[in-house]
Amino acid sequence: MAAIAVEGFARETHDAARVERARAVWAERVVTEYRSAQALSRYAQELLAVDAPRAEVEEAIDMVRDELRHVALCEAVVRAMGGAPGRPTPLDLPVPEAFRRAPAAQRAMGTAISMLVVNETLSVGYLDDLAGRAGDGVCGQVVRAILGDEAEHGAGDVPLVGRTLAACTPAERAEWVAFTEACVRPHLRRAEDALAGVPPAERVLEDEPAHAALGLFTPRRQALVLARTWRETLRPRLVALGLWAPAAP
Ligand SMILES: [Fe+2]
Ligand SMILES: [Fe+2]
Repeated sequence: MAAIAVEGFARETHDAARVERARAVWAERVVTEYRSAQALSRYAQELLAVDAPRAEVEEAIDMVRDELRHVALCEAVVRAMGGAPGRPTPLDLPVPEAFRRAPAAQRAMGTAISMLVVNETLSVGYLDDLAGRAGDGVCGQVVRAILGDEAEHGAGDVPLVGRTLAACTPAERAEWVAFTEACVRPHLRRAEDALAGVPPAERVLEDEPAHAALGLFTPRRQALVLARTWRETLRPRLVALGLWAPAAP
């Protein structure tokens, strides 16, 4: 794809306080993209540890490459906005002890559900909402470049999940349903909190062009987009996989 001329960011055409906020948001994106690269490189090891088909391992490695590119793109935006991008703290990816001790097959499945099914689907929902509104400036170009990759990460079928569930006992399957719920709930709760004081009549996707041009959401729009992605994409996907009870909210 064509290179993005991030130095073309026209800082003076935006509100200064909003640029400052955008710089912090893009700096946080550097960190989350870095964490994605770390988690997906661990996933590649987990796939190798269960002798997954070569195509699946290669796909995981390609995703790591994509995430590193996202790190670089977000870093360039931070610099163009006058900031200095950083790294996650702690730098090493924290891995809970129970996860570390679990067999590789369980670690691979846990990562596939949390990263590929849940997180990537939600992040595609956010990026997709921004991509059409963010304009032709640097932020819009970067959002669309990242969306192009993330849509591939999150949209496809994840064969490992289907394979694992097909081999599960009903009790094991129930554990994966509970694990999935634990991955999803914090996202839903955050959206509910953001919408707590908002009357139903005002729960509409307002236009926010000045935010979108910097790759930002207002908290309300972000929460509404999450609720929509959950309803229209993620929940149906989880139900189809057998990871969400059709009767559960
Ligand atoms: Fe990414
Ligand atoms: Fe991704």
